[in-house]
Amino acid sequence: METVSNNSDKQSLQNVRLGKDVKIYNFVNAYGCSIDDGSKIGTFVEIQKGATIGKNCKISSHTFICEGVHIADNVFIGHNVTFINDKFPRATNEDGSLQTETDWNCVETYVEQGASIGSSVTILCGVKVGKRAVIGAGSVVTRDVPENAVVAGNPARIIKYLEKTLA
Ligand SMILES: CC(C)(COP(=O)(O)OP(=O)(O)OC[C@H]1O[C@@H](n2cnc3c(N)ncnc32)[C@H](O)[C@@H]1OP(=O)(O)O)[C@@H](O)C(=O)NCCC(=O)NCCS
Repeated sequence: METVSNNSDKQSLQNVRLGKDVKIYNFVNAYGCSIDDGSKIGTFVEIQKGATIGKNCKISSHTFICEGVHIADNVFIGHNVTFINDKFPRATNEDGSLQTETDWNCVETYVEQGASIGSSVTILCGVKVGKRAVIGAGSVVTRDVPENAVVAGNPARIIKYLEKTLA
């Protein structure tokens, strides 16, 4: 992997570790993260520091991948997907000062190999989405999703399981 910084009118990449053949579309804002071989990052995606994206992933446009999110290989992320890393966020401290990085704890989230996350899904922090699981469009994921499960709704509930051999 090489570390890339590239600030242009159409892209802002700061200290991004990039694998081979990564395709990054216009208006992506990414910093301090890593994106492994063959992955594609759609337009208007933001990826924060410390986030990791595996090989051959597809991240669709308008998605937000925050610090603390770890995405394994072959994962599909739909449009407008939002990850979360702070369950009880506050703008300010008790004394009214704006919170800084030292005032809150980042909670990590894991998306395992081959999982697919539908469009406009929100994933609460601290959960694990299991291998090859599928998250229905518009779902709000509040708990771990087992391997091969298909979940949907708010809160997301299991609607069925896929055969283990299916991608
Ligand atoms: C979750 C999903 C995979 C289920 O597909 P499916 O197995 O064919 O399921 P069905 O369409 O037979 O629906 C089964 C039940 O789940 C419900 N359901 C399906 N998708 C749902 C969703 N996203 N949210 C809430 N409920 C959903 C259906 O209404 C149905 O309920 P019912 O039995 O009470 O009528 C699919 O609907 C989905 O949301 N895929 C994500 C697509 C996406 O976002 N792609 C992004 C790139 S374009």
